[in-house]
Amino acid sequence: MTRTPLIAGNWKMYLNRAEAVRLAAAVAAASDGVTDREVIIAPAFTALAAVAEAVRGTAVKVAAQNVAWEKEGAFTGEVSPLMLLDAGAEMVIIGHSERRHVLGEDNAMISRRLRAALQHGLLPILCVGETLAEREAGSTFSVVEEQLAQGLVDVTAAQMDSVAIAYEPVWAIGTGKTASNEQAQDVHAFIRAVLSRFYEKTLAERVRILYGGSVKPENVDSLMAQPDIDGVLVGGASLNAKAFARIIHFQ
Ligand code: 13P
Repeated sequence: MTRTPLIAGNWKMYLNRAEAVRLAAAVAAASDGVTDREVIIAPAFTALAAVAEAVRGTAVKVAAQNVAWEKEGAFTGEVSPLMLLDAGAEMVIIGHSERRHVLGEDNAMISRRLRAALQHGLLPILCVGETLAEREAGSTFSVVEEQLAQGLVDVTAAQMDSVAIAYEPVWAIGTGKTASNEQAQDVHAFIRAVLSRFYEKTLAERVRILYGGSVKPENVDSLMAQPDIDGVLVGGASLNAKAFARIIHFQ
């Protein structure tokens, strides 16, 4: 089974438009001629349209960092799937741990966002992952399974082909602490097993599962060598053109 590796940069709440366009151009240059892996960058909403314009016609695609569940309406502070498409986004990160743990989004809200993305043709990256307390309590698998079960409510097998999962252990995000290759592989294999239970094995074999949490040029090669790690979702290191270029060209 070959799954095209997906290398995604989550720029979080960094970079003004000029900075974002400059970095996007550097990422596009680093991705020139790259055909055996997909490269995605997720700028803040304010830079989305400018970045999409900057990478148009290159190998780089653009993702948003969240999406509303309605196409329009009285939802102050939210951005609709149609607006994201209009700005040039093709994908969207949903359920990032910062949305869950800092902004208080729950599984029900995340599942609505995911279904809205699918309905409007935005490809979702659904993030799951346990906190340090949950890992230490031995509940990593149950937490991740619950996030998958609730996040994927009413998602059909046909729609699953458009969904990627990102495993991001909360304790590894922005901490410099990466999950070991074995810890990451274990949870990725578990996620695939859960997906084969929810759907079927051949479908689960096609779904891309990304790892996120302090991915750096120094650890990307060994993470990507794990059989169930199909890509990476990179925060801090994606803001540095040279570091992200090295991650794109993982070996
Ligand atoms: P860091 O790579 O900065 O740990 O962030 C990971 C992340 O949250 C990507 O979505």
